[in-house]
Amino acid sequence: MTEPNLAVNLGGLAMKNPVTVASGTFAPGRTFLDFFDLSELGALTSKGVSIEPWAGNDAPRIAETAGGMLNCIGLQNPGVEGFCATYLKFMRSQGTPLIINVVGHGVQEYPQVIARLEQEEGISAYEVNISCPNVAEGGRTFAEDPAKAAEVTRLCRAETKKPLFLKLTPNVTDIGEIAKAVESEGADAVSLINTVVGMAIDAKRRKPVLSHVVGGLSGPAVKPIALAKVWAVHQAVQIPILGMGGIATGEDAVEFMLAGATAVAVGTASFINPTASVDVIKGIAAFCEAEGVKDVNDLIGALEV
Ligand SMILES: Cc1cc2nc3c(=O)[nH]c(=O)nc-3n(C[C@H](O)[C@H](O)[C@H](O)COP(=O)(O)O)c2cc1C
Repeated sequence: MTEPNLAVNLGGLAMKNPVTVASGTFAPGRTFLDFFDLSELGALTSKGVSIEPWAGNDAPRIAETAGGMLNCIGLQNPGVEGFCATYLKFMRSQGTPLIINVVGHGVQEYPQVIARLEQEEGISAYEVNISCPNVAEGGRTFAEDPAKAAEVTRLCRAETKKPLFLKLTPNVTDIGEIAKAVESEGADAVSLINTVVGMAIDAKRRKPVLSHVVGGLSGPAVKPIALAKVWAVHQAVQIPILGMGGIATGEDAVEFMLAGATAVAVGTASFINPTASVDVIKGIAAFCEAEGVKDVNDLIGALEV
């Protein structure tokens, strides 16, 4: 059999294969150069970038759990000017499309970050992380409120013609409702899932393990939750989905594509195995070859129920 086609189009972003890295789990990627060429990835995704530098939370901010990990890093980043002066130059020299993840404390901060990034060369798409607390208006995350999710999308859409992805939280009752809200304001794709709220306790000390008490659960433990959310969003909207949550193998990625994802991101798995993202690319190709799938696009939403 000739090699299967792995190229996909994620809401206007052409990817030579359907695999990127999950925001915040890959740094700018420099440390991974010891293991593989970053141009092998379908796209490279940055950690969240805010308008001003964010310090992040105090340690301890990582805890290992059964089948996963909790983190409360707190979206630490050098701010958009610091990002442009340091990481961006390195990232755009890697020969792979660049997705910049954007975060904010209030609705107005997101479009400000995008407006600044629009002055830079080499950015292919934006992924807007609305799973952040709306500090300016009571602390609920934007991704829990369809009206706020829509407002952030509208403001960001006004700043850019580039592919705009909205990253959704699984910590809601009806994720389809949020996906519809961002689709209606011009999102080109949705990314999901962000981490699941979780907690770890040190019983002998009678203390929470994390400084922030609660954190975000990621890794294999969240994969079934992520698959169910991708499936739910696939029923709710027409725009493509970037699926993530516990993906560690090519077959995991194929499961997300069958549930409706056009592309996938590999996150926590890279902490255990630095070549996880490229292993997933090879695994998807091997699956297609073994199963006689000529075009990876034929897997998207092909779940038989
Ligand atoms: C240490 C860490 C930092 C993260 N930072 C971000 C971030 O800056 N922006 C964002 O949208 N998601 C962030 N995430 C969420 C991941 O991108 C991803 O949605 C989540 O971890 C689920 O995928 P995984 O199970 O493959 O890790 C972070 C996750 C981890 C573990």
